[in-house]
Amino acid sequence: MGEYHIRTYEDRDYEAVRAIFSHGILEHAPAGCWHVLRCPQTHLLLLAIFYVAYAVSASLLFAGGVVAALLAVGWVRMKGIWAEYVEAALAEDMGDIRKTYLEAKDSCFWVVTSREEVVGMVAAVQPEDPSQQDVALELKRMSVAKPHRGRGLSKALTRTVIRFAQERGYKEVVLGTSMVQLAAQRVYEGMGFRKVRAKSPSFLAKLLQFYVYYYRYEIAGSR
Ligand SMILES: CC(C)(COP(=O)(O)OP(=O)(O)OC[C@H]1O[C@@H](n2cnc3c(N)ncnc32)[C@H](O)[C@@H]1OP(=O)(O)O)[C@@H](O)C(=O)NCCC(=O)NCCS
Repeated sequence: MGEYHIRTYEDRDYEAVRAIFSHGILEHAPAGCWHVLRCPQTHLLLLAIFYVAYAVSASLLFAGGVVAALLAVGWVRMKGIWAEYVEAALAEDMGDIRKTYLEAKDSCFWVVTSREEVVGMVAAVQPEDPSQQDVALELKRMSVAKPHRGRGLSKALTRTVIRFAQERGYKEVVLGTSMVQLAAQRVYEGMGFRKVRAKSPSFLAKLLQFYVYYYRYEIAGSR
C-alpha cells in the first residue's frame, strides 16, 4: 500500500467520490453496448429489419441505412441506460453519503487516499433483501481511479469491508456486479468470493442476455 491510506469518508470527500464512482461505472458503457451487438437476438432483429426495409423499398442502400440508423440509436440508448443508473445512484445513496452510510446501523464508507487525494472508495451497508439482513453485509460502490489501479487497492478495500462485517458478527459479505465488469469479477473471485446467482435487471436485459452476477464471501470463524 505504501503511499496509500484507507480512512472513513469525510464530507470534504463528497465531490471526489462521486466523480470516481461515475467514471468507474460509465467506463463500462462501451462493453455493455458490445455485448448487445454480439447477441444473436440483436443479429436476428437487425436481419429482420433489413429484410423488411429491403422488401418495402427494393433498395439495398435504404435497407442498410435503416439498419445503420437503428444501430446508432441503439448505441446512444444503451449508453443512456448506464448514465441513468449513475444519475439514480448519485441522487439516492450517493446524494447523502453521510446519512446513507455513516449514520445507518452497521454501515460505513471508506476512501483510499494518496497524498491527501481521494483515489478510491468502497461502502458497506445492510442488504436490501430482508432474508440476508442480520446474516450478511453488502459491499457496494467499489471503485479505484484509473491511474491507481493494479496496486492492490481494491483488495485492501475489500478486506476492510470483510473485517468490518466480521467485527459486527456477520457471517457473509455479499455483492452484485454486472457481467461486463471483468476486473471486479477477477478481484472478488481472487479473494474467495463465490458467484451464487446471475439475474437480469429488467425484461429487456433478459432478452439481451445481460446479467448481474451476485457473489457471496463466507467469513471464516464468524459467530
Ligand atoms: C475493479 C477495480 C475496483 C479493481 O481495482 P484495483 O485496485 O485495480 O484492483 P487490485 O489492484 O486490488 O487487483 C486485485 C486483483 O485483481 C486483478 N485485476 C485487477 N484489475 C484487473 C484487470 N483489469 N484485469 C485482470 N486482472 C485484474 C489484479 O491482478 C489483482 O490480482 P493479483 O493480486 O492476483 O495480482 C477497478 O478496476 C475499478 O475501479 N473498476 C471500475 C469500477 C468497478 O467496476 N467497480 C466494481 C463495482 S462492483
